[in-house]
Amino acid sequence: MSTQPELPKKVKIIEVGPRDGLQNEKEAVPADVKVELVNRLSRAGFSNIEAASFVSPKWVPQMATSAEVMANITRREGTIYSALTPNMQGFEAALASRADEVVIFGSASEAFSQKNINCSIAESIARFESVAKAAKDNGLRLRGSISCAFGCPYQGEVPLDAVADVVRRMRDLGCDEIDIADTIGVSTARKTQAVMQVAAQEFHVDRISGHFHDTYGQALANIYASLEVGVSIFHSSVSGLGGCPYAKGATGNVATEDVLFLMNGLGIETGIDIDMVVDAGHFISQHLGRKGASRAGNALIAKRAG
Ligand code: HMG
Ligand code: MG
Repeated sequence: MSTQPELPKKVKIIEVGPRDGLQNEKEAVPADVKVELVNRLSRAGFSNIEAASFVSPKWVPQMATSAEVMANITRREGTIYSALTPNMQGFEAALASRADEVVIFGSASEAFSQKNINCSIAESIARFESVAKAAKDNGLRLRGSISCAFGCPYQGEVPLDAVADVVRRMRDLGCDEIDIADTIGVSTARKTQAVMQVAAQEFHVDRISGHFHDTYGQALANIYASLEVGVSIFHSSVSGLGGCPYAKGATGNVATEDVLFLMNGLGIETGIDIDMVVDAGHFISQHLGRKGASRAGNALIAKRAG
């Protein structure tokens, strides 16, 4: 007789399309389009949307409209609107924009840390200390994101110990949640479980999230593998938008519509209306002038057309 692993009954899906999804777009997406996207996603029922990034506009020009976006969105009660904050300058802007959660973002790879935020891992943690303290003093949630936890575009392999070390440091900074990110989408299911298990030795498994880019088509398998080891928070991007400007060749996050289709099929509660997400994906894909990258989204649209 085979035994099935127990999966979580409920998951939290963090929609990162307005930030991770759009940050890599070459053409400037007007603030009012971003606002409409966030509003559509809010109405679809997400309890957490990554809506902004207060980084240097010289490094990521697309995110320069973040304050305008945050000022004009219609906030749904109970939804957490998050913003990336690499330093105190970013934190002050996030606070002024009434972000509910700030995200400090580091890396398990030294090489990627230098390319992405222009400092070493140790320097980044030192820089995050003041951001973490300010977040707590101001009653904001604090999330820590760890890039390249499964592989790095510059150094290749990333040892499990390096992931454990950064998880510990993020935990000691007081993070409420920690993201384990596959920036370049190279992980496969067993590797994912090994990394998640190492992270879970350092931090509560129910506050660890999986952030999978879908470059090699492995993201859904990695999500299922993470569910099997008890992870119940996942990041995804409507229509599969995205990529990191400092990870060449990396494509978007796993598409939200695909993740919802999986969760619905597994009978796992998300609280999110997949049809409204499909509509939001259609809206932003039309604006960008291309077909959406979500397989489930495209199939559901085709089905509607009959
Ligand atoms: P730096 O050049 O070392 O910083 O950049 P600096 O402190 O020397 O400042 C240089 C200039 O930037 C100054 O302006 C500052 O005012 C300005 P200038 O005097 O030259 O006119 N500046 C800022 N402006 C606005 N907001 C700020 C800010 N800070 C400094 N917060 C820095 C260091 C971290 C700022 C820079 O490297 C940077 O902005 N990097 C952002 C990289 C980024 O956004 N990457 C994408 C997001 S991470 C990601 O996608 C991965 C994730 O999805 C997980 C995964 O998939 O792996 C989260
Ligand atoms: Mg990412």
